[in-house]
Formats: sequence, C-alpha cells, structure tokens
Amino acid sequence: MSLSLDKNIVLEEINRASSIDDIEKIRIQYLGKKGLISIEMKSLSSLSIEEKKIKGQELNIFKSLFEKELQNKKSDLENKALNEKLEKEKIDISLPPRNFNTGKIHPISQTIYKVIEIFGSMGFSVKNGPDIESDFNNFTALNIPEHHPAREMQDTFYIDDKVLRTHTSPVQVRTMLNSEPPIRIIVPGRTYRSDYDATHTPMFHQVEGLLIDESSNMAHLKGCLIDFLKEFFEIKNLKYRFRPSYFPFTEPSAEMDIAFTKKDNVIKIGEGDQWLEILGCGMVNPKVLQNCNIDTIKYQGFAFGMGIERLSMLKYGITDLRTFFESDFRWLNHYGFNPLDFTSSTGI
Ligand code: PHE
Repeated sequence: MSLSLDKNIVLEEINRASSIDDIEKIRIQYLGKKGLISIEMKSLSSLSIEEKKIKGQELNIFKSLFEKELQNKKSDLENKALNEKLEKEKIDISLPPRNFNTGKIHPISQTIYKVIEIFGSMGFSVKNGPDIESDFNNFTALNIPEHHPAREMQDTFYIDDKVLRTHTSPVQVRTMLNSEPPIRIIVPGRTYRSDYDATHTPMFHQVEGLLIDESSNMAHLKGCLIDFLKEFFEIKNLKYRFRPSYFPFTEPSAEMDIAFTKKDNVIKIGEGDQWLEILGCGMVNPKVLQNCNIDTIKYQGFAFGMGIERLSMLKYGITDLRTFFESDFRWLNHYGFNPLDFTSSTGI
C-alpha cells in the first residue's frame, strides 16, 4: 500500500503559490475538514493495525513535510510583500548636494559681524535689547527730558506710551541699570526714525558702544575709534578728524569724519580733502550716569554710535541706501557674501 498523495505534485503546487491567499487555499485543500490529508487520516481507522502503523507513519511524514514547505513558502511571500511595501514607502532622507552659492550673507549682517569682531578683540561684549522701548530708556534717562528740543533731532515713531527706539542707546541704559561697572559693551541693532529719502530709511541699523570704568578719558575714546576705523576699512594711514559736537547724553561730545576723494564717481576712503561724517561720540554725561544709578564720583566713561548702513556703503561701494532693503535677489547675489567666507582681522 502506498500513499495516494503525490509529494512532487504537492510541492509543485506550493511552489506555484504567488500570494498568501493561494497558500491558504492549498492549506484548506489538504488540511481542511475535507482536505486530502484529512481524508487520508480518517481512512486510517478502517485499516488493520499493521497497515495503520505503516500508512500512519507515511502520512505523518508527508504532513510535516507539507506543513514545513507551506510555512516556508508563506514566509517567503510575506517577506516579499513586506519588501515591496518598504520599497514603495521609501523616503530619501539624504540631503541633496548643497549649493553653497545659493544663500548669501546680507552686507548689513556682514558689516555687523565685522564690527563685532573688531570691538570684540578690544574686549567689548555684545548686548541686545528690544526694538520697542520705554520713553524713559530711549530719551529721559539719556538726558533728553520731555519737551527738550533734542527730541526733535530724532523723528520718533510712537506706539501708545512706548517708542520704536530711535537709537540703540536704550540698551546702554538697561545695561547700566542692571550691572556694575566696569562696563564695556557694543550694541548693534535695528533703529527707527520717521524719515525717508535717498539717505534715510525709516528702519536702519546702528552700533553703539559704551565703556564705563574709573579712569577712561577722551584720549582712550579717540584711540579706540581710530583703531576701529583703521581696522574696519583696512587702511593703515586713514585720514580722520574729530569735530566738537553736541549730544545730550555726552559731554564733551564730538563727531568723527574720515577723508575721501571722488574720482569718476568712485569714492576712495581714507585720503583727500573732502570729509565724511562717520560717527558721534563723547564722554558719558554724568547726568546719564546718575539716571542709571552709577556713582559719578567713582566712575566715568565714553560712548559712541554709528550707522551700520553708512559703514557698509563705504566699505563695499554700495551707492544707494534704499537698495539694502529692497530684497532684490540680483543685488543680494552681487553684494552678498558667501556664508563660508569668514571675516578675519587684518591685524592693522
Ligand atoms: N545715540 C546717538 C544717535 O543715535 C549716537 C551717539 C551715541 C552719539 C553715543 C554719541 C554717543 O545719534
């Protein structure tokens, strides 16, 4: 007696299965209630003990082979389905090769970095503050009381009882109120004045500096600014002059000019007999120190302030102030800086 089930046919059938459904059909076809193996199993009962033993053994071997093969095929199909799914849902998380030339650093930012780098090397640290300020921080503490004519020097934007800061000096006030001398800070940032023409925009940038200690004087202030401008413009023999001036928050006050020449519409900085105003400065008025709770017997210091746009225009040969804020991509491409070209000190 031999098994009526043909091993090769069954294996062939399993092999042909192309889906989990097919596998299930084959399983039912053989192991289901009316499956071929089940029927053979049932038929064992009508056999003699001897035959039962032999056929039973054969059937069991066949059955385990069948189950093993079916399970293997099922796993293969499941793996295949999973791989197909993974392939379909694959997300490419690798970055495309980067084009380092697409983004540029705006000349304003570049100028601010350069200014920070130079004053940083002199021991100044950077402070920031809010654009919307109290009247006290922007004016009163700086010795510009209400109705003082000096307020007219700066056309102010008001927001209820606050102002858009007209200079970054309020950050100096904040710093003096919150810390003890010695103080040595620079404050780059946005400033606002109600003005718009070829040389003024309602928003512009300033950097101001403040140094408070027990002994700094006007000579130190001058030295500091001369060194800064020589380093910034990378001109060793920069021609400059200081002119007496007036600011309510400094006494004495001065403005600093640098010499320039203009030939064929090209400006050359640092020499010649024409003058460009570049910054305001002076010894901090003791009234300002008092307003900021600083002991005027013990401490004194100097302050200075300048426009970032002006510095930037002169250094990089930009002729129209308004172009800084037009976000013209061609302009940015032309005047912008490669993010990987770090500024570096020239050591002048
Ligand atoms: N705050 C002044 C301005 O915006 C600049 C300045 C600062 C002048 C410090 C002198 C000293 O015009």
